[in-house]
Amino acid sequence: MLGRGWMLVALMMVVPFSWSPLRAQSPAQGAGQRPWWRPSVIYEVYPRSFADSNNDGIGDLNGIASRLDYLEALGVDAIWITPCYPSPQKDFGYDVSDYTNIDPMYGTLADFDRLVKEARQHHIRILMDFVMNHTSDQHPWFLASRSSRNSQYRDWYIWRDGKGPGQPPNNWISDFGGPAWTWDAKTGQWYYHYFEAAQPDLNWRNPAVQRAMFNVARFWYDRGVAGFRLDAVDTLYEDPNLHDNPIVNGEMVNKYNDNLAENHVILRRLRSLSDQYDAVLLGETWTDNISQLKQYYGDHDDEIQLPMDFMFATVNTLSAPKFRHQIDMIESSGEWPTFVITNHDMKRSYNRYGDGVHNDQIAKLMAALYLTLRGTAVMYYGEEIGMSNNDPKRLADVLDPLGRMDWPKNKGRDGERTPMQWSDAPNAGFTQGKPWLPIPASYKTHNVATESQDPGSILNFYKALLRLRRDNVAFADGDYLDIDPDDANVLCFLRRYQDRTVLVALNMSGQRQRLAADLDRYDPGTAKATTLLTTMKSPPRDLRRVELDPFAVLIVQVGQSGEQSGSATAGSK
Ligand code: NOJ
Repeated sequence: MLGRGWMLVALMMVVPFSWSPLRAQSPAQGAGQRPWWRPSVIYEVYPRSFADSNNDGIGDLNGIASRLDYLEALGVDAIWITPCYPSPQKDFGYDVSDYTNIDPMYGTLADFDRLVKEARQHHIRILMDFVMNHTSDQHPWFLASRSSRNSQYRDWYIWRDGKGPGQPPNNWISDFGGPAWTWDAKTGQWYYHYFEAAQPDLNWRNPAVQRAMFNVARFWYDRGVAGFRLDAVDTLYEDPNLHDNPIVNGEMVNKYNDNLAENHVILRRLRSLSDQYDAVLLGETWTDNISQLKQYYGDHDDEIQLPMDFMFATVNTLSAPKFRHQIDMIESSGEWPTFVITNHDMKRSYNRYGDGVHNDQIAKLMAALYLTLRGTAVMYYGEEIGMSNNDPKRLADVLDPLGRMDWPKNKGRDGERTPMQWSDAPNAGFTQGKPWLPIPASYKTHNVATESQDPGSILNFYKALLRLRRDNVAFADGDYLDIDPDDANVLCFLRRYQDRTVLVALNMSGQRQRLAADLDRYDPGTAKATTLLTTMKSPPRDLRRVELDPFAVLIVQVGQSGEQSGSATAGSK
């Protein structure tokens, strides 16, 4: 990656050209009134893999605390920590056995409190992961529930008789494969689990469950967390009559155990609790279409503030029309978007969008996409250094239950959960012990220490981009206007707030592309343009005659004659 010599190009180019922008309409909430989470970048930390302070090969809370300087310098506003509660780790923390504690492998509640306090000093908020749908089968509630049909906890989970001997109550299939029901010989009934058998679903129709789980939310809010990422939030409720799901074209449609209306009642209540703490809800909201996604905001914007747009995240090809379509959909919904390009359940963006040759440029291009659009952005750890997947080669090496179940068709999620690459030292500087997952060979070049020294690295591009996003109000509060809607290769849009206008041009192709946007259409007057950030070898002098390099990013401020924004222009490699 670092082989080619290249440079940081002109810090501030003020280029006159013939075009002045339309004055943007002010969005309803301007700076000062907007909620803290709107312009935020939320950084997802997978705690097993972020930083290991005690060298046992597994990351921990003190490890995260030791990297707060890094996170602050990177420029993120909040971190979402995936589950760090006590857990048998069958699904690596998404099987919680105690909601109000920290797993000893990650530290203690005192470590957590210290992390919150120190993070605050670094201007970073902490979001926890709230696994509402299910517990571990080792949670005391479930142990009591399965101990006897007469247990006071029996109705905390979904227990039913089968259709007949050896036959589960209905045809529902677990997301992890096989029937969504497991037979319990001791009490002679089946229990329901949307996910693994070790993750029994809570019965949200039971008011005692609701009370207990709302107490969990209060517990963490009182400790200073700024919100929750809501796990599997679409599956809280099931049809009480347990109708069989329909099979359409050979595929089960989860009509009776997904997206039930009752989910929204709980979300409204959780939102109202969260509002008391000025907290945010970030939803794991997998949806098929925009009207489904819109429902998660609530009819009166009284549910999840930030339901993640996975329709955008699963555009799996580098395609300007496909991304544009998804942006148009969420923009036309009138809601505040939440953009994400990958997470601990999805292949790294470096692999999904990279062409095998220009992956570093493409990593910067993708960064510029999700971090310049109107909306909150969620960034997965390691994206900022171009971490890549390290999928297991043999079934014997697979730890993720999904990978073990479906090998080799699906190699599971270990590959995108590997330890953070801090340096080119052994084990990428993550641990002096044996890392819980093997580290990809790319750590030699793609690591924090090495990239920090290289002005053209992905890391320095991310830093410049995040600084720009923070400093320029057009990104926080501006509207979005696609000014080149038919271009098959280039996404070109404006972000406009009052007298600020920023133009973003992203070449999603491997060929040079002429910027085809009809800029004169907006105003033939005279204006100044300032190149804020680009990967172009030579930033353009005249925006009406721009030829974008392959996979180039060009971010230009227009209409602010002579104004210096202080943001660096980063070159290409
Ligand atoms: C979604 C989480 O992101 C995933 O990692 C987990 O396996 C399932 N929910 C079950 O909790």
